Amino acid sequence: MTISPATPAAQARREVTGSGWLLWEYDEVTSTNLVAAKCEPWQAVRADTQTAGRGRFQRSWVSDLGGMWLSAVVPVETNSPAWRFLPLAAGVAVCDALRDLGVTDLRLRWPNDVLVGSRKLAGLLIDQFQPGRAVVGIGLNISNSPEARDGQLEGHVIRLADLLPTPPAVPEITERVLAALKSVWQPVWGGSVESLLPRINVLWHLPRRVEVDLDGPKLEGEFHGVDAAGRLLLRDDSGRTHAFDPQDVRLLRDQGERIS
Ligand code: BTN
Repeated sequence: MTISPATPAAQARREVTGSGWLLWEYDEVTSTNLVAAKCEPWQAVRADTQTAGRGRFQRSWVSDLGGMWLSAVVPVETNSPAWRFLPLAAGVAVCDALRDLGVTDLRLRWPNDVLVGSRKLAGLLIDQFQPGRAVVGIGLNISNSPEARDGQLEGHVIRLADLLPTPPAVPEITERVLAALKSVWQPVWGGSVESLLPRINVLWHLPRRVEVDLDGPKLEGEFHGVDAAGRLLLRDDSGRTHAFDPQDVRLLRDQGERIS
């Protein structure tokens, strides 16, 4: 991948946040993940707009004014047990921050889409450009207008402004998300996933009827969360439980509401 040059540092505002992150803020960049590619752990990049916001599966991500487009660099050992929990921990952290703002009925869709009902409030994209660190890209719709930018999003997205009478300003939300990410990630990085597991599993709203897309082969069944090794658990219709490595799962499609 070509890493596009960051906007010159002179155009960035530099701030140390209350939770100890060094935050670089820009009016506009191509993608905050690409700018953050060169940053050290515990540094973050936020921009008011992105001209080439990136989503999962090489999709583009609408990044208009009024949303939070943030990339946070965290330390990680590739192939460590913690590594496979990073996408999940990041999703939990975003949910923690949103819950503290008063958002209710949050849930996660594999691996870390943040939904309210069936509408997407936030999306996360994890990149690794350098060994020993990962870029956690977080896109959160606040008072921007994604559906006006892309008609195909109509009915599929939701914004904080649709959920809270007065959403806080972007800098406050940014600080809350960064603080939550640090607080969730530090123990997991230190090797302790036990406390994270139940917190992740409650956010899937389980059990759910799903179809697992293994990048080709597909299997239907009941999703029962992740195990202590971070593997996705699926019970098929014969009652057999399968455990999949997260990197083998391309997509988890909801086949309906939660099974009560
Ligand atoms: C997805 O759900 O497809 C992931 C979307 C991730 C979007 C964020 S916005 C900040 C960061 N910079 C990017 O280019 N992408 C992520």
